[in-house]
This record gives sequence, C-alpha cells and structure tokens, in this order.
Amino acid sequence: MQKTVHSIAELRARIAAWKQAGERVAFVPTMGNLHRGHLHLVERARELAPRTVASIFVNPMQFGANEDYAGYPRTLEDDSRQLEAIGLDLLFAPKLTEIYPRPLADMTQVTVPELSAVLCGVSRPVHFSGVTTIVAKLFNMAQPDVAVFGEKDWQQLVIIRRMVADLDFPVEIVGVPTVREPDGLALSSRNGYLSAEERAMAPALYATLRATAGRLRTGERDYAALEAEAKTRLEAAGFRPDYFEIRCSDSLRQPTSADVDLRIFAAAWLGRARLIDNLAVVLD
Ligand code: PAJ
Repeated sequence: MQKTVHSIAELRARIAAWKQAGERVAFVPTMGNLHRGHLHLVERARELAPRTVASIFVNPMQFGANEDYAGYPRTLEDDSRQLEAIGLDLLFAPKLTEIYPRPLADMTQVTVPELSAVLCGVSRPVHFSGVTTIVAKLFNMAQPDVAVFGEKDWQQLVIIRRMVADLDFPVEIVGVPTVREPDGLALSSRNGYLSAEERAMAPALYATLRATAGRLRTGERDYAALEAEAKTRLEAAGFRPDYFEIRCSDSLRQPTSADVDLRIFAAAWLGRARLIDNLAVVLD
C-alpha cells in the first residue's frame, strides 16, 4: 500500500523502519505532473531495491525570476494515483515551508561549479544551484541507497554525480534513457504548454539532433559549422534556439577531433515552452 507523507519526520520514520529490516531504498525525486518518463524511473527504481520512495516538490530555488514557477503544473492527486498503480511504496509531498523554513535567500546552497555554468547554466544561471541544493536536502532526508534520474536532463545527471562524488554522499546514482513519444519528442511536463500547432512542430528538435549525429558519424568534425547549421534548421522549423552544442558526454567540455564519447545538447523555445533534449554519439 502506498502512503503519502508531507513531513520530513514521517518520511524518516517510514524509511528507518525499512532500513532496520535490512531493506534497501531507491529514490526518485520529481516535480510532479507525472508522465510515462517519470513512471519509467519508478519502474527502474523498483528493479533496484525492494522499497521505492518518490518525491513531488516544485522547487522554487531552481526557477529564475522570470521563469514558470507559479504556472508550473501541479497535479498531486492524479500523480499519486499513477504512482500507486505502479506499486510505489511511499510518496513524499512536502509543503514549501517544510523544505525552506526561511526565505530562500537565507538558505544554505550547494553549488557544483563549472558544470553548472555551461549549456542550460548560461541562460539559467541560478538553476543548477537550486537543483543541487534540493537534491542534497532530499538525499539527507530520505538517505536512499540508490537514486534514479533521467538522461533527458543529462546536464543535471552529470552535475548530481559530481555533487555526490565531491560531498561523499553514500548513494548510487542511476541514469535512465529518455522516454519519447512515437514521433521522437522527449516526454516533458512542459510539453503541456504547446498549442496543437506547436506540438506538431516539436519533433523537429529530436530530428535535428539525429541529423547532426548522422553527420558526425560520417566523419564531419567542424563542430561549429554543424552547430550553426542545426540552429538555422531549428529556426526554419519555428523554434527560437537557446543553444545547440556538441560536447564531451561526461565532462561537458568542448570536444577536440580526438574525443569519441560525444553528446549533442539542444535547448529551444517553441511558443512559451522551453524544450531541451540531448543525444549520445559514440564515434569509433
Ligand atoms: P522533473 O522535471 O519532474 O524530472 C524528474 C525526473 O524525471 C528527472 O530525473 C528527469 O530527468 C526525469 N525525466 C523527465 N522527463 C523524462 C523522460 N522523457 N524520460 C526519462 N526521464 C525523464 O528534474 C527535475 O524534476 C528536478 O530538477 C528535480 C531533480 C526533481 C529537482 O527538483
């Protein structure tokens, strides 16, 4: 039976009982408005440990002043039904003051430098500190053995791995491949912001990533030219590109012609939705 708890004390009590019984705990943090991508993370978590915990908390610290915090979709009842249906053991759905008892600006923050300053960090300078702060807090609250994150947010995944290494969190981080619609669009809570017309245009983001990956595989190495061409293609498809960059997969640095483990990253606005996606390219 799944139970929803709202306080840190209840969360800790439930998890402590499992740990005393020797049961491992897998954790899936989310901001709710769940789709099949999120549910897939929970299914993966269920394979990794006998007890699964998810959290739903729309974290104000990771939204910039002009971003969509107020309008971010909040669908707790529906989310909790979906989680129950797939056998989640415990849902943590705290209120704002449970997590941030003081004004945000007065709270201690966790920052992973460098990795947080590139790609999405350029146009969203406070975003990743907000993410690492909430994830560090949630790890301290739930003390999971393993935590599951989506590769859809690859930069976030790399940053969390670095935080866990640097701060010695005793938690294993597992990444899960991106769940997509049949036309290639990565599932995202923000897809709900798209009009019908924009939704029809949206698969061009993934199509452009795939086209660039194909060019890399056939030997092209002029990364700047490939990036510029891809941005032009996105503009022609109706997007306002934020960035389109070919990077080393784990370090996120710009590759030389000798690097083989690459990943292409894109962020682009379509109407009022800022969509992100990425694609691995391993060269042989
Ligand atoms: P949210 O956007 O709700 O995503 C929660 C988790 O679901 C993340 O690990 C994300 O990468 C994963 N996810 C989203 N779409 C996915 C898809 N199409 N396929 C696979 N996984 C997908 O990411 C956050 O929340 C927040 O930053 C959070 C980590 C909860 C901290 O507040």
